[in-house]
Amino acid sequence: MTFDLAILGGGPAGYVAAGRAGAAGLSVILFEKNELGGVCLNEGCIPTKTLLYSAKVFDYARHADKYGVTVPEASVDVSAVFKRKDKVVKKLVGGVRVQMRNAGVEVVREAASIVAKGADAYQLSAGEEYYEARQILVCTGSEAVIPPIPGLREGLGTTVVTNREILSLPQQPQRLVVIGGGVIGMEFASFFNSIGTEVTVVEMLPKILGPMDEEISAMLQAQYAKKGVEFHLGCKVTAVEGNTVVYETPEGEVCRAQGDCILVSVGRRARFTGIGLEEMGVELAVNAAGRPVGIKVDAQMRTSVPGIYAAGDVTGFSMLAHTASREGEVAVNTILEKADAMSYKAIPGVVYTNPEVAGVGLTEAEASAKGIAVTVHKLPMAFSGRFVAENERGEGLCKILEADGAVVGVHMLGNPSSEIIAAACVAIEKGLTVEALKTVVFPHPTVSEILKETLF
Ligand code: NAI
Repeated sequence: MTFDLAILGGGPAGYVAAGRAGAAGLSVILFEKNELGGVCLNEGCIPTKTLLYSAKVFDYARHADKYGVTVPEASVDVSAVFKRKDKVVKKLVGGVRVQMRNAGVEVVREAASIVAKGADAYQLSAGEEYYEARQILVCTGSEAVIPPIPGLREGLGTTVVTNREILSLPQQPQRLVVIGGGVIGMEFASFFNSIGTEVTVVEMLPKILGPMDEEISAMLQAQYAKKGVEFHLGCKVTAVEGNTVVYETPEGEVCRAQGDCILVSVGRRARFTGIGLEEMGVELAVNAAGRPVGIKVDAQMRTSVPGIYAAGDVTGFSMLAHTASREGEVAVNTILEKADAMSYKAIPGVVYTNPEVAGVGLTEAEASAKGIAVTVHKLPMAFSGRFVAENERGEGLCKILEADGAVVGVHMLGNPSSEIIAAACVAIEKGLTVEALKTVVFPHPTVSEILKETLF
């Protein structure tokens, strides 16, 4: 049988695309060498959010007295927390399996590669079998970068872990050193800090959370410093010696941080080799240094080779689950000859620390780099009655950037900004003006009202 569409990789790009394509009547085969759901469901978004929710519940219990509630002795059963995480993942992976079945998608639990192009179909090989498909969608995702720091790779599997191994540690570390204070680094710093591990973050840049709003990143850092997390910013890790991370400060001083666990979270790289792309002549995207970083695609997610599409982290571009699913949808619509285009104007970024950070659209730094003049509207979260009711002594901020009368950026610190940011995504993606946003009725009392209040 020749399938209409073969999808390589069953993460948020692959399984969403497979579901949409199957529902639209295409015959679809999906290859996934591990569990359905990809990194997001198995070792990324979902397990970490499950762990972080347990940490949040523990935080509430420990600080319940702030709300007039007495909890005599709150404690955390780390093994129960991790067991619950496994249960949640298992349930959701099962859910994806059912979705695939309902959409009539054939799932093959093997790694596949493209081996030949025939007259009107591609040939793929997976395990011992060969398959044929008229179109191919590559969604092979990304993997953690292990930088060439002496001693780092040697420590992998023992003291050094990535986002994957840290999800199944044999026991809670007493001291954790995090190399890289980006999203993954800060989420794990947050979780382990809450459950009582001593956490040190060593970050190369002068700020945590990379491109996220500077002021908000600094506020979050200050809150975690107060909770006991040690930050070493502008520090370059030069070696890992057993359980010791050696780093150089901006002043050139050589320092050491010790941990029974060392998390390396310095970014991810697209996984595009060994699947036949080079042989098919698929063009790769390169960075400023000329190094290939992902599969080059256009706004319809087409690669340079007709009939081959790519979506998700493998494009090396946005590397977020929600970008991946939308890219998968665009690819399927293009295959179905429905007009669609990928827009990166309003991709939200959320960090699920406690408090949460969320942002969408331009930051002040990006606007200034692009020469865009912006007006910044700013309001502390404490202007929201609901925020005050639910965040005793909590500090947060909402910032809205306006350019030419339109909302072009929204950045927030405070719970539940991960939920509120969706409204900002709609405003930015649809080009809403500040005046139009001011006329929208928000439910009262909710923290979301801050979006409107900030503009007055
Ligand atoms: P990241 O790019 O967010 O952060 C990596 C950090 O490591 C950067 O701040 C960088 O300056 C620093 N760094 C690089 N080399 C270093 C060195 N040698 N020593 C010290 N610091 C160094 O990457 P991260 O956190 O690994 O996340 C990977 C991807 O996963 C990102 O694309 C992220 O957006 C995505 N992700 C998204 C989440 C979310 O949406 N909540 C959660 C987790 C991951």
